[in-house]
Amino acid sequence: MVHLAALTWLRALSMPTFAEFGCRGIPVSHRVLVVQPAPNPDRGTNNGKSFVESFALFETRSQAVPRRNLMGVGSARFSELFGSFPTPVAVITAVDGTGEPFGFTSNAVCAVSAATPMLLISVGKGSRTLPAIMSSQAFAVNFLSSSGQAASQIFASKATDKFARFAWQSSAVAEGAPLLVDIALSYAECRVESAMEVSDHWLIVARVEGTAVFPREPLLYRRGDYGVWPPQNADAEELSAF
Ligand SMILES: Cc1cc2nc3c(=O)[nH]c(=O)nc-3n(C[C@H](O)[C@H](O)[C@H](O)COP(=O)(O)O)c2cc1C
Repeated sequence: MVHLAALTWLRALSMPTFAEFGCRGIPVSHRVLVVQPAPNPDRGTNNGKSFVESFALFETRSQAVPRRNLMGVGSARFSELFGSFPTPVAVITAVDGTGEPFGFTSNAVCAVSAATPMLLISVGKGSRTLPAIMSSQAFAVNFLSSSGQAASQIFASKATDKFARFAWQSSAVAEGAPLLVDIALSYAECRVESAMEVSDHWLIVARVEGTAVFPREPLLYRRGDYGVWPPQNADAEELSAF
């Protein structure tokens, strides 16, 4: 698709195609179009030129690249990538229409905007918490403190009594979503803005309507293992003076 579009462009601009650059014999799936600035005294001074004129200042060439660069990676390699660094751990909670609490462990919470405070979560379609989030259109993100490892493990399971061992309060602004006040490092009370289906997950963007931050240390997670924040930089205050 990309190749066809690129070729159509090049032909429309009367520019050389892959074949003219000696790509005969290289399978189309192994070709990649490289667009880079051509030596041109006008480069960088495109004022007044149309987009097509600016585009014509670029030369094109093609390269054979190994197939593995074009084929994506498997799930094991993907997990290896995202296991290569530590992340915070959160328990995302919501209540359904009957008031029953649901929650799951997540390390995929993303800040979206501070100007209009928004965050993004990714919820697997098999999650039992997902229907509660969708029906209440609200949820809480409980970032776990260093005392939250047991909670992380329980909320990552399919246990039916996940909340039995933990003290929680109902969020007034997130439709009763449980706030794990004793083990949270901080929490965000959220209302759903939009949701998008991506593969086997739903990406949910939500407006942050309330927060609390406690004077505790964060729980960290990496490759299935837990750790706490290492205070390596005890002299940070002194160093910042330089
Ligand atoms: C560290 C960690 C991070 C996780 N992150 C997510 C996540 O971002 N989204 C998700 O749907 N599941 C995630 N999971 C898996 C869920 O916690 C797990 O599927 C859970 O059983 C779902 O519970 P539920 O079905 O009661 O909602 C994660 C698990 C762990 C251990």
